[in-house]
This record gives sequence, C-alpha cells and structure tokens, in this order.
Amino acid sequence: MTRAFSLLFLVLIVVALTQVQTLALVAGKPQVPCYFIFGDALVDNGNNNALATVSKANYKPYGIDFPQGATGRFTNGRTIADIIGQLLGFPKFIPPYANVTDQEINTGVNYGSASSGIRDETGRNLGDRVSLSKQIRNHESIISRLSLLQGNKTFTDEYVKKCIYISIIGSDDYINNYLMPSNYSTSKTYTVDQYATVLVQQYSQQLTSLYKLGARKIAVFGLAPLGCTPTEIARFGTNGKLCVDKINDAVKLFNDRLKPLVVELNNDLPDARFTFINLTNILSPGGITLTTGPCCPVREDGQCIQNSIPCLIRVSAFYDGFHPTEISNIVIAERSYNALSPMDASPYDISCLTTSG
Ligand SMILES: *[C@@H]1O[C@H](CO)[C@@H](O)[C@H](O)[C@H]1NC(C)=O
Ligand SMILES: *[C@@H]1O[C@H](CO)[C@@H](O)[C@H](O)[C@H]1NC(C)=O
Ligand SMILES: *[C@@H]1O[C@H](CO)[C@@H](O)[C@H](O)[C@H]1NC(C)=O
Ligand SMILES: *[C@@H]1O[C@H](CO)[C@@H](O)[C@H](O)[C@H]1NC(C)=O
Repeated sequence: MTRAFSLLFLVLIVVALTQVQTLALVAGKPQVPCYFIFGDALVDNGNNNALATVSKANYKPYGIDFPQGATGRFTNGRTIADIIGQLLGFPKFIPPYANVTDQEINTGVNYGSASSGIRDETGRNLGDRVSLSKQIRNHESIISRLSLLQGNKTFTDEYVKKCIYISIIGSDDYINNYLMPSNYSTSKTYTVDQYATVLVQQYSQQLTSLYKLGARKIAVFGLAPLGCTPTEIARFGTNGKLCVDKINDAVKLFNDRLKPLVVELNNDLPDARFTFINLTNILSPGGITLTTGPCCPVREDGQCIQNSIPCLIRVSAFYDGFHPTEISNIVIAERSYNALSPMDASPYDISCLTTSG
C-alpha cells in the first residue's frame, strides 16, 4: 500500500517537475502585475536572517539545491511561494521585505517570517519574528510607498486589486504555542476547539485588513497534518500509529473553520475572491506524509544541524523536522495553482484567480 502510494507520488513529482521547468522556460509576461506573500517558514525567503532568533535557515545544508545556496529558505530548493510565482510567470523570485528596494515593490513583496503566527506571541520561544499582524502593517507601508512611486492613487488602488496574495500561516500557533504548555498559557485558557475558534476569528480580522488594503484575489492555505512531521512525532510519540493523531485532530478543527470563513468573506466583502487550499488533501493521496524522517540530521528544534550532510536523493517529504523538501513544495504549488479536484482548492484554484472579474 505504502509502496503504491510512493510510486504514485514519484510519478506526480516527475510530471510536476516537467511542468514547472517548462513553464519557467516559456515564462514571458506574468499573468498578474504583482504577487504578495504572507506567512511563516513555508514561504520565508530571508526575512528572519537579521533577526535575533534561532529560527532562520541561512546556513548549509539549507539551499543545497538553490542556485544562490542558503538564503534563509527552509528547504533544499524553492519554497511553495517561489514555485507559485514561477507558475504565475514571474521571471524573478519575489524579494523579501527585509531587503526590498523601491524598484522592486511594484511586482510584489514577500513578508513571510519563520516561527510567526496568527497570534503575536507565537514563536517567542525561538526569538524574534514578524507576526502576521506586523506583516500586514508592513504591507500597509509598502502600499503607501507604491502609491507615492506610481504618483496616482486611483491607479494604485486599481493596480493592487489585480495582484495575487497568498497566506500560509497557523502551523506555529500550534507547534510553537499551544503544543508548548510550559512556555504558553493558551492550552490552559482554551480547549482545542475554542483555540481553533479564536485563531480563525483573529485570522478573519487580519484577512479583512488585507482586503481593506486592496487585496481581492487571496489564496488562504489550510494547515498540513502537523502530527505527521518528524519533530512532532519525536516530541509526542505516536502510540504505534503513523502520526500524532491528537495533533492532526486539533489541526482539523482549525481547517474545518477556516474553509467556511473563506466562503463567508466572499459573501460579505464586495469583489473579494478568497480561496481555501486544502494541504491535507494535497498531501495525503500522494503519500507524502507516509515517508519517514527528515532528510538532514536535525536539532532538537527540528532545524537542520549546521553543515550536516543531508540525504543524497531528496525525494522524501521533509527536508528537516518540520519543513517540506522542494519536491513536496512542487506538488503543493502545482495543485494549488492547477487543482486536481475542487477538494484541493475551493472555490477557485490560483490559475482561476488570475482572470479578471
Ligand atoms: C539582503 O541584501 C544583502 C546585501 O545585498 C545580502 O547580503 C543579504 O543576503 C540579503 N538578504 C536577503 C534576505 O536576501
Ligand atoms: C520554555 O519552557 C521551558 C520549560 O519550562 C524552559 O526551560 C524554557 O526556558 C522556556 N523557554 C522560553 C524561551 O521561555
Ligand atoms: C490616474 O489613474 C487613473 C486610472 O488608471 C486614470 O484614469 C487617470 O487618468 C490617472 N490620472 C492622472 C492624473 O494621470
Ligand atoms: C481536506 O481534505 C481532507 C482529505 O481529503 C478532508 O478529509 C477534509 O475534510 C478537507 N478539509 C476541508 C476543510 O475541506
């Protein structure tokens, strides 16, 4: 069974790789003028490098398959955000907020920060990070800069409505918050059910702020089954199961509230096109979560040990104790861009968001 899944997964990878490479080669004009990225380590491309935190990936063996080497991306190659950008036809990767220049902001900015969460305190145990609320404030200042540069407020207002926005966040609100009872009080304050509710309520306000700043085409990623990550398995044990079921159950409560939120926002906010990406669905049939262990030797916090030697054939699901390999990222990006079924992306996939109207 597992082998059949792995084989299917390999076939999907080969197809995905071929498509992404072809697309990268024929990329001409991007399908949308700009692309803005919000989230955590799944999209961070260097924003944490200068922060006082252990949650940064600007060292080997991160980036082993990336042309510029270690950049702060938490994987061997490209992130989910990078690959979606290529599928959208952007010839260059969207730069990190930490480094972006005025000349670059009109094609978009990546605000992603590893260990950050929907809640401001999330990730504090690892050091500094840019919470989602702060990422949205950073976006507000970028929109002001853009408006100044473009010199016509009406033009900028129309321009930013055409962009694609993605938000991939919430994992650390579990891993580096609720699931660390000795460092955070959330698990004493809330049941898992209440916690999912308060997280989604706060996320709702944040996504509404993003809408008010002009975002109209927004892909909101649900959480992956975090109980299947190697480090959570090492921390909590599985009781003979494949994954930590308790964690996957908690994450499911969050996802089950997030999808209806997307429907609600689309109903309430004029011209909004929010969409929900189901990572659990994208990751399960291919058997990504069934493979064992990280590719690099990991520290207690789940990150690769500096200068360690990673696995040679990087086709396993995880690069370190938490973060996917580039190959997993390709599958995720491909299926959020071109959904295989409405279960992957609902009500729209990202390719559908690129169209006007
Ligand atoms: C930002 O730019 C500096 C100088 O060009 C470079 O050394 C650094 O790696 C860049 N950081 C990121 C996150 O790209
Ligand atoms: C987290 O909790 C552990 C166990 O109580 C403690 O040793 C550690 O100092 C705490 N870390 C932070 C950053 O608060
Ligand atoms: C500002 O942009 C709008 C929308 O593109 C355009 O119709 C208008 O003519 C522009 N105004 C000026 C002064 O260029
Ligand atoms: C996501 O996909 C999984 C697997 O197909 C499914 O069980 C779950 O209900 C979906 N989640 C949502 C919120 O639709």
